[in-house]
Amino acid sequence: MSTQIDRTHLAELRKVEEARFLVNHKKSSEAFADSQKVMHEGVPMSWMAKWPGAHPVFVKEAKGARFTDIDGNTYIDFCLGDTGSMTGHSPDATVAAIKRQADIGITSMLPTLDAAVVSKELAARFGLPKWQFTVTATDANRHVIRYCRLITGRSKIIVIDRCYHGSVDETFATLDGAGNTIKREGNLGAPVDLAVTTRVVEFNDLVGMEAALAHGDVSAILMEPAMTNVGIVLPEDGYLAAVQSLAKKYGALLIIDETHTISVGPGGMTQDLGLTPDFLTIGKAIAGGIPVGTFGMTEDVANSIKKLVELEIIDTGGIGSTLARSSLANSSSSVVTTRKKSKRHQASPKLQNVLSSPLTAGKNKLESPSLSSLFRLVLCLS
Ligand SMILES: Cc1ncc(COP(=O)(O)O)c(C=O)c1O
Repeated sequence: MSTQIDRTHLAELRKVEEARFLVNHKKSSEAFADSQKVMHEGVPMSWMAKWPGAHPVFVKEAKGARFTDIDGNTYIDFCLGDTGSMTGHSPDATVAAIKRQADIGITSMLPTLDAAVVSKELAARFGLPKWQFTVTATDANRHVIRYCRLITGRSKIIVIDRCYHGSVDETFATLDGAGNTIKREGNLGAPVDLAVTTRVVEFNDLVGMEAALAHGDVSAILMEPAMTNVGIVLPEDGYLAAVQSLAKKYGALLIIDETHTISVGPGGMTQDLGLTPDFLTIGKAIAGGIPVGTFGMTEDVANSIKKLVELEIIDTGGIGSTLARSSLANSSSSVVTTRKKSKRHQASPKLQNVLSSPLTAGKNKLESPSLSSLFRLVLCLS
C-alpha cells in the first residue's frame, strides 16, 4: 500500500468540507458580511482573519469543554480560547466570584484582599516570594525584560528560535542561514533592528546558548520550559538545569514563561523539574478568561529593583497599566488558583469525557477538532 499522501484527494476533500461549512453556518456567514462593514478584515482581532474556511464561526455560548455557534452547531472545544479558558469555559465557581466582585467594584487602583491571596498561592506553587500583576502575559514578559535590563545594565535578551511569548517586540526574531539574528517574517513595524535587542538560539542547544551568553551583553534568557507554540517540543534531560547554570555563570537572569506549560500541573514545569528561575511569568488561564498576567521574582531581584527604582517617578518607568489593578481579575484569579488541585498528571474528568465522546460531523452534532488543537490537548494531558 502506498504511504504517499494523495494531495489531489486532499484538495477535493477540502472543497467538499468548505462547501458543507457554508451550508451549516449560514448565520455566521451573515454576521461576517455585516462585520466586514465595521471591522478591519471583519473580525475583532486581526489573527481571526486566518481562518481555514470562508469566515470564522460566531460563538453564541460556551460552557465547560463545549461551545455552540449562532447556527446551533455544538463543538468540543480543544482550543479553549487558546488556553485562556484552560480550566473550561465559565466554570461555576469563577462565574460566581466574577458576579460577586462585579457587584461591589470592578477596578479601583487600590489593592483588594484577593491580590495577596493569589500571590501567596503562586509563591507556594513556584517558589518565588514576590509577585506583581499585569493585564496580559505579554505585559508580564515586557515588564520583566525591562527589569532585567535595569538590574544587569545589559541591552540584549536571549530567546529561543520560533518562540512565542505574546506581542513582545524583542521576541520576534529568528536566525538567518549564517546564524545571525534577524527579524522574523511578518514582524510588523519593528521599532529597531532585532539584532540590537536580541540573540536567538535553538531549543535544546546548550553550545549555542553558551556562545550567545559569552558575548557578555545578555540581560536575560526568556523561555518556555517546553516549546508550546510550534507543536510541543520537550526539553532534553538536564537541558533546563544546564541553562539555569549557564545564566548564573554569565550574569544573565532566567525568565521562565509558564503561561501554557502550567497545564502539566499546579506548579507547572518549574515545580516538576525543581527549577529556580529569577523571574516567572504567567497569565491567561489563571483568571478563568478574565484578562490577567502576573510575574514572580526572587527576593534578590525584588531588592535590586527597590534599590534602582526611585519612588517619586515609579509611574514613568514603562511598567504598569491602569487595569493591571483590576479587582475583577484578582478575584477571579483567587478562585482559579485556590481551587482544589486535581491529582498530578491525571486528565480531568471533563477532558476524559471529551476524549471518549464520538466525533461526528454535521449540524447540531460534534465537529472534529483541528490538528493544532490536538497538540494543545496533548500538552494538557502530558
Ligand atoms: C508562552 C506564552 N507566553 C505568553 C503569551 C501571551 O499571552 P497573552 O496573549 O495573554 O498576552 C502566550 C500567548 O499565547 C504564550 O503562548
